[in-house]
Amino acid sequence: MSFEKDINEVLFTNEQLTEKIREVGQKISKDYEGQELLVVGILAGSIIFMSHLLENLDVECKIDFIKCKSYDGENSTGSITIQKDLSMDPRGKNILLVEDIVDTGLTVSFMVQSLLARGAKSVKVASLLDKPARREYKVDVDYSCFECPDKFIVGFGLDYNQYYRNLPYIGVLNAAAIKAHK
Ligand code: IMP
Ligand code: MG
Repeated sequence: MSFEKDINEVLFTNEQLTEKIREVGQKISKDYEGQELLVVGILAGSIIFMSHLLENLDVECKIDFIKCKSYDGENSTGSITIQKDLSMDPRGKNILLVEDIVDTGLTVSFMVQSLLARGAKSVKVASLLDKPARREYKVDVDYSCFECPDKFIVGFGLDYNQYYRNLPYIGVLNAAAIKAHK
C-alpha cells in the first residue's frame, strides 16, 4: 500500500530522523557515562524512536515500558490514566523517559512526578518531537530531536486513531485521510 495519498506534507524524512536520533543517543551516552540507566518507553508512540535510540546508547541499561492514555483522536482529553505499569521498581534508578511527542506536556509531567514520587533517583526526558506552541504543563525536555509546528502529525510511531504508526517518516495527514480513519 502507499501512504502518499494520505499525507499532505513530509515534515521529517526517515534519514533526518535516524541521523538526529544517532546524535541525541551519543549525547545521552556521554551524559550518563559510567552510570546505569533504566530506559522507560511510553507506549505505544515511543517504540520506533526508542529502538533507534537504544541502538545508539553506549551505556549499561535495562528497558521497561509504561502505557497511559491522554489523547483521543486529534484532541487532548486533559486527563490521564495508567493503563499498563512498569514491570520493574523505579526506586533508586536513573530513568530516561522516552516519549514520541511532548504536546500539552500533561503526559510527561505526570510521569516524571509519579516516577520521582516512587523513589526514582533521577528522571530525564527524551522526546522525538516537541510542540512548544501547545504547552500547558511545565516540562523540562532534556533531549529533544526536533521541534514541530502546531499541526497534527503521524508516522515513526505516532498514530491517528492507532493508524499510521508504521509510516516510516513524519508527515501531516490530509483531511480525507482523517475522515476515512475517524
Ligand atoms: P500531551 O500529554 O498533551 O503532551 O500529549 C502527549 C501525547 O499526545 C503523545 O504521547 C502523543 O501520543 C499524543 N500526540 C500529541 N500530538 C500528537 C500529534 O500531532 N500526532 C499524534 N499524536 C499526538
Ligand atoms: Mg503517546
